[in-house]
Amino acid sequence: MRIGTYYYPEQWPREQWERDFDNIEAMGLQIVHMGEFAWFDLEPSPGEFQLDWLAECVQMAKARDLKVILCTPTAAPPIWLVEQHPEILPLHHDGRVHRFGGRCHYSPTCPAMLQAAQRIANALAERFMADPAVIGWQIDNEYSAQAFDQHNYTHSAFRQWLKQRYGTLKKLNRAWAGQFWNTYYTDFDQVLMPSGRGPNYDSPHYRLDGSRFWSWAYGQFNKMQVDALKSHLSKRPAAAPELFFTTNFMPFHLDVNPEDMADDLNLMSWDSYPVSGWTRQIEKQEFRMGDPAQIGFMHDQMASYHQRWGLMELQPGQVNWSGVPCHLYPGAVRLWIWTAFAHGAEFVTTYRFRQPLFGVELFHHGLMDTDGITPSAGGREFVQVLGEMKRLDAVRLADPTRAQTSAKAPTTIGLLFDFEQLWQYQTLPQAKRWDQARFYMMWYAAACRLGAKVCILHPDRPWTDEPDMLIVPGLQMIDPTLAMKLERYANDGGHLLLTCRTALMDKSGQLWEGPVAEPILPLIGGTIDAYDGLPENTFGKVEMDGEEYQWGVWGDLLYAEPDTRILAKYADQFYAEAIAAMQVKRGKGTVSYCGVYAEQPFTDALMVKIAKLAKLPITPLPARVQILQRGPYSIALNYQDAILDVPAPRNARFLVGSRKLEPAGVAVWEIPQGE
Ligand code: GAL
Repeated sequence: MRIGTYYYPEQWPREQWERDFDNIEAMGLQIVHMGEFAWFDLEPSPGEFQLDWLAECVQMAKARDLKVILCTPTAAPPIWLVEQHPEILPLHHDGRVHRFGGRCHYSPTCPAMLQAAQRIANALAERFMADPAVIGWQIDNEYSAQAFDQHNYTHSAFRQWLKQRYGTLKKLNRAWAGQFWNTYYTDFDQVLMPSGRGPNYDSPHYRLDGSRFWSWAYGQFNKMQVDALKSHLSKRPAAAPELFFTTNFMPFHLDVNPEDMADDLNLMSWDSYPVSGWTRQIEKQEFRMGDPAQIGFMHDQMASYHQRWGLMELQPGQVNWSGVPCHLYPGAVRLWIWTAFAHGAEFVTTYRFRQPLFGVELFHHGLMDTDGITPSAGGREFVQVLGEMKRLDAVRLADPTRAQTSAKAPTTIGLLFDFEQLWQYQTLPQAKRWDQARFYMMWYAAACRLGAKVCILHPDRPWTDEPDMLIVPGLQMIDPTLAMKLERYANDGGHLLLTCRTALMDKSGQLWEGPVAEPILPLIGGTIDAYDGLPENTFGKVEMDGEEYQWGVWGDLLYAEPDTRILAKYADQFYAEAIAAMQVKRGKGTVSYCGVYAEQPFTDALMVKIAKLAKLPITPLPARVQILQRGPYSIALNYQDAILDVPAPRNARFLVGSRKLEPAGVAVWEIPQGE
């Protein structure tokens, strides 16, 4: 795994560039990331390119044996483009026009923007594609908008997309339920882009399509840039390393479903800022380390598309944007770099090398303090990890007979992730407390606590290596093909776990004309008779194996057929004793149905119970602890505010850390060859 940093030469005096590159090299960093946001410096007026300064910096990197990631600067369109084409600035539904002066001030549907972006991408590729030091391209930065654009070009692109999707107005009116409040359309030209995604009194089916289209439009914008870059690939020497093309996603950011870009990219990447101060665990220090479930989920989600992923931005210290400037726990940055390694990252780069002295992010830490030459606390942790990784390599080089691969984790657990569901929950939440991203993370955390290998699966991508257990959290919209795929999975011997709010709707977001969750009813061994959702900060009780647990978001009241095993029941409210979770045998496998969106302790306990019933080998781990394998290494990551006794085998040979792991500590070990 390579480690590197973003560097913005255009933000610093030229006389300091050589010195900064010397310091980057001296820290042991291996990658420099450049060009992001530098559109004006690269193209000061339309079609006039000034790329020499960037070429000079690429040479400086090369002279120090650093690899380079280049970025297309399209997240920050320059003033001349806005002046030439004022329609680039997004138009909000209330008539407000986005102002120039920040970033992301464009709509992916704007023809003038598409043209200008293509021109700069071509110019960059023309100049840099041949350079073997360049290992990859990042397109744009964190695709996102303040709102759905309302220019005519967006309305008409939306209409085109709808014509492709539905073909006829009859189908469109059916999908959007024109019969409800007489919202029929008689001409595609009458349709406008929705004003937004959030709950509203227009059709939720229409809003859902708005989200789909908007993400698709970003996908097209991204594809156009990737295609422009790739059209210069013939310039690349045969011996040069294979290039990657990526963009850096934000976790669960609703403007872009990574699926809409995955086929045009060959490596996925994301930006990780684990400590914003927004989580509340004040009695412990864990809010200074971040949530290993959120971090791990995103790593595994990125890995799930191509098995190739990188961590593009990693928080190196305090951030400027959260309003809660928490100091990080000492060791947290080191812990995050090792976490990315443990999940199989190809590289980790950090935003950013030098702390800016200007601009809105002047309180954002970098690897260097404000003097530009003194490593910050985060910078020192980067140096520490680079040293540790070097030692690992040295050990292996000195003795090539050491084991190269590790034992497979005994149990694999898949988690079915479908981005589209996030849009639907946003548009029509029904329960304000329902947080689908949190729900995914709770199940992910519970799976990790079994010491299992967790992988993220997608409804429409092949499930290679079918897992021993498959969790399907809140898959509200389903199509018959997927329902059949789930059934086959269980029949073939898998342990399927479905939760509340699964299979309630078709892919337009309309309920089935039939019993609740009709497509999965043949699977679950019972029916869903009613549901309850409690007011804010109110909790009900659910009981399992003599223990009581809290729930509050959603609770299905279940009926179980005679052969169905009851796993948990409600323990209070007027429906005490009603069934909350159940399990039935199907073919060679089992299907469990968890009707309750409870809190983490119940989720954890239910996972243990289901794994035990299935006789799957598990190694229960404390909360906020992960143990993962990469190649010959086992890596323990301690996100707890407490010392951890690492459950490593007796003969483990520790290469980093030891059996007693301090808070935010990392241990890496291997099992000696032949043992
Ligand atoms: C990211 C963004 C970076 C920088 C950073 C600050 O979301 O991609 O450009 O602004 O936040 O934390």
